[in-house]
Amino acid sequence: MDLEDTAARLGVTAEEVGRVHRLAGDRPSAPLPAKAHAPAILDRLAVRPDDAAEVVAGWPDAGSPLWTPELRWLLDRSIALVRADLGGHQWLPPGPALPRDRGPAWRHLYVYAYLALVDVVTHHHRERGIPDAVTWTTLADLGRNLAIDRRMNREGWPVMQSWLTLHTRGAVYELGRLQHHRGDGALSLHIPDSGPLTPQAVAASLDEARAFFPRHFPGEHYTAFSCGSWLLDPQLREYLPGDSNIIRFQEMFELEPHEEQEGLDADVEVRRFVFRTLSTPLDRLPRDTVLQRAVVDHLRAGRHWHWRRGRFPI
Ligand SMILES: CC(C)(COP(=O)(O)OP(=O)(O)OC[C@H]1O[C@@H](n2cnc3c(N)ncnc32)[C@H](O)[C@@H]1OP(=O)(O)O)[C@@H](O)C(=O)NCCC(=O)NCCS
Repeated sequence: MDLEDTAARLGVTAEEVGRVHRLAGDRPSAPLPAKAHAPAILDRLAVRPDDAAEVVAGWPDAGSPLWTPELRWLLDRSIALVRADLGGHQWLPPGPALPRDRGPAWRHLYVYAYLALVDVVTHHHRERGIPDAVTWTTLADLGRNLAIDRRMNREGWPVMQSWLTLHTRGAVYELGRLQHHRGDGALSLHIPDSGPLTPQAVAASLDEARAFFPRHFPGEHYTAFSCGSWLLDPQLREYLPGDSNIIRFQEMFELEPHEEQEGLDADVEVRRFVFRTLSTPLDRLPRDTVLQRAVVDHLRAGRHWHWRRGRFPI
């Protein structure tokens, strides 16, 4: 295949196409579910009706004119690339960020890849005795992310396409309030956008994880919970009350020394999670909550937010 030509047609670089080509090789892909089952599956994955309608409209049917040979190649090889790392737990871009405004096939290509992998990962979960309820709650993060993508006018997506490969490789499990991400010796905590982060809900989720991982991953040994987040920035203490959920969450962690993380701008991440926009000018952002006012005032004062990592023993 001509990498340059494929890349040009996909609107991405030849390096990005070359990476997919190299990692996927001729490894097995996986078929999408039948289109007739799509509405029920999307519903089970908490995909909202407006997003589900878009996904069904762009479905990669054999004869669909929306799907060029290059898009079909990328879909097939992206599925193979992710599938080849089933059981892995590192962040894994499933392919290049596409020009998504070219249409539904372009916009949701990695959603179709996710749907193809649902069968693969549910089988993987079943082999480990993971309860169905955990499987489907975990996988339903797809719907949550699509809703956020819509809310963000599509500007937050490229991160989500990598994030969602953790779910389809069996790396992340949603247990109550938190998502637990298998790692090297530590379970990394992620906090979905699903209501307040009460200490009670956090404690219950940690307890669930303490039982879940030894039972379903007896070969893996975890000694700590860890987290990397804007939520752990101690500067938030200058603004939020001591009994707020964020500050109480922070108090559980022993922080690692602060260092800039390559490719990660905490100011951008804070905007993502607090305003769900990356492009709105500071003076047009809402000031409805104490946190929103804090974020804007901090940035307007010329200061920056920090992405911090911390951990505590299991
Ligand atoms: C983490 C999260 C659940 C905490 O919310 P919470 O439990 O309400 O937190 P607190 O009790 O500490 O909130 C303190 C104040 O900040 C506000 N606040 C907290 N998170 C907010 C958010 N994401 N956007 C806007 N305001 C927020 C609260 O409304 C409250 O202000 P108020 O008293 O004026 O109403 C919430 O920030 C959230 O859903 N974030 C998105 C997901 C995320 O950031 N994950 C981590 C990714 S690294």
